[in-house]
Amino acid sequence: MPNKLKQYFQKARKEGWTIGQFNFSTLEILKGIIQAAEELQSPVILGTSEGESKFFGLEEAVAIVNVYKRKTKLPLFLNLDHGKSLDYIKKAADAGYDAIHIDGSSLPLRENIELTKKAIQICRKKDIFIEGEVGFIKGVSRMLNEAPKITEADLTLPDDALKLVKETGVDSLAVNIGTFHGIDASGQDTHINILRLKEIKEKLGDKVFLVLHGGSGTPKEDIIKAIKLGIVKININTDLRLAYSNALRKSLLEKPKETTPYKYMPEVIIAVQKVAKEKIKLFTQAKRIC
Ligand code: G3H
Ligand code: ZN
Repeated sequence: MPNKLKQYFQKARKEGWTIGQFNFSTLEILKGIIQAAEELQSPVILGTSEGESKFFGLEEAVAIVNVYKRKTKLPLFLNLDHGKSLDYIKKAADAGYDAIHIDGSSLPLRENIELTKKAIQICRKKDIFIEGEVGFIKGVSRMLNEAPKITEADLTLPDDALKLVKETGVDSLAVNIGTFHGIDASGQDTHINILRLKEIKEKLGDKVFLVLHGGSGTPKEDIIKAIKLGIVKININTDLRLAYSNALRKSLLEKPKETTPYKYMPEVIIAVQKVAKEKIKLFTQAKRIC
């Protein structure tokens, strides 16, 4: 049976849209994302980093996402985001994750390739979709007092990307094209290096699906250009975390005596849903895709 996520990426590539990966670490964030996907009848990738999945629980994440898969009948895929160690990747694979991002981008290329190959050996037996990464993406998914400086030297080299793809056979590849994790508190937007994306795409063609990390705080025009140039997955975390924490603070302040979570949480879920919905609309250009 062909891998279902791969089929959606093929469809996205053919039709010129992109699948959003939305990260979660609480049930309320997950609910907001699912509600947005339901509203727009869209496939989504649900991401948990190592930290997020340790907080939520790997098995708990799989179980609850399975409930939503059954209830919504939507193509939902659970991805381990920025998996760094083989030990943790094995745990996520055993728990039942649909996809795994093996991030060896902080290592020298040769070591990155060897680590990625080992991760693939673990995942292939279970038909898990694999994302690799070449070109370390700086920052953390939060409001940053000072955004990291991205220079030419940080960007993915097309030859390095090709080497890793050829030697490992990853299904998708995260590349550094100028974005970073998090949002600059001073309000400065992240810009995508369109030229480098073009060069990478020319070198790799359709050998691999291209992924953009650090999607929060990236202007719409840049996102649209990147989709046109072949980005078929965009990761969003900080924008959802901000929506969640700002709405939660507001809700508790407005209801200082309220102690019942189901009375102060609904607006928090709606705030996350709103952001996820805007992103899905932007990523899919309002096409009906399920
Ligand atoms: O892997 C997760 C993403 O790259 C999230 O980046 O927090 O800037 O949206 P972001
Ligand atoms: Zn990332």
